[in-house]
Amino acid sequence: MFNQLIYLREQAKLRGEPILRDKSFELLKETVIKKQPKRILEIGVNLGLSGIAMLLCSENAYLTGLEIDEEKVKLAKENYRTFGVEDRAKIFIGDAAEIIPQLTAKYDFIFLDGPKGHYHQYLPYLLDVLDKGGILFADNVLFRGYVLGSVKTPHRYNTTKNAMLNFLRGIQQEGLKSTLYEMEDGVSITEKL
Ligand SMILES: C[S@@+](CC[C@H](N)C(=O)[O-])C[C@H]1O[C@@H](n2cnc3c(N)ncnc32)[C@H](O)[C@@H]1O
Repeated sequence: MFNQLIYLREQAKLRGEPILRDKSFELLKETVIKKQPKRILEIGVNLGLSGIAMLLCSENAYLTGLEIDEEKVKLAKENYRTFGVEDRAKIFIGDAAEIIPQLTAKYDFIFLDGPKGHYHQYLPYLLDVLDKGGILFADNVLFRGYVLGSVKTPHRYNTTKNAMLNFLRGIQQEGLKSTLYEMEDGVSITEKL
């Protein structure tokens, strides 16, 4: 199963699809294997490949995905069927900024991989629906090296960089335990204590 998933990821990369990078993908799998979540929320589904990986790594889990692009949703649903996880996965189509505040279910694992400039805005709502002991795994938190200043930020990315800095400050708050992984585009893993 994972060989087929790796093949689809390679094909997606060749087409320039925005998908989780390789080391971050391995870290996501490791984290899910360790945590064995039951209810996963994914913001930014794209082709469904990271969602499939999470469902294969946690066999009793159900996944709720949020995705704004209807074409991607169709492709993700086809991929869910190919991997036999369609009964454990559903997708809400629309803008995560509108859907997240309306979520009422609780989740024990959240994978945040949507629009980078909005993570800080989503954070309070995501923490509300995250169980105690639950994990918030976020990709792109170092945004091309701009966030920690290792790469000079072009003017047009200043707003996104500052938004991400706000997110990183937000996950340092009391009641959370966060670890930052300075690899690829930057990953943070936050546990709600
Ligand atoms: C980096 S991709 C997700 C990749 C996927 N998690 C993976 O690793 O295979 C980000 C996705 O977020 C979606 N997206 C962008 N803005 C969004 C929004 N405002 N609400 C919901 N989804 C959004 C994009 O259409 C894109 O498919």
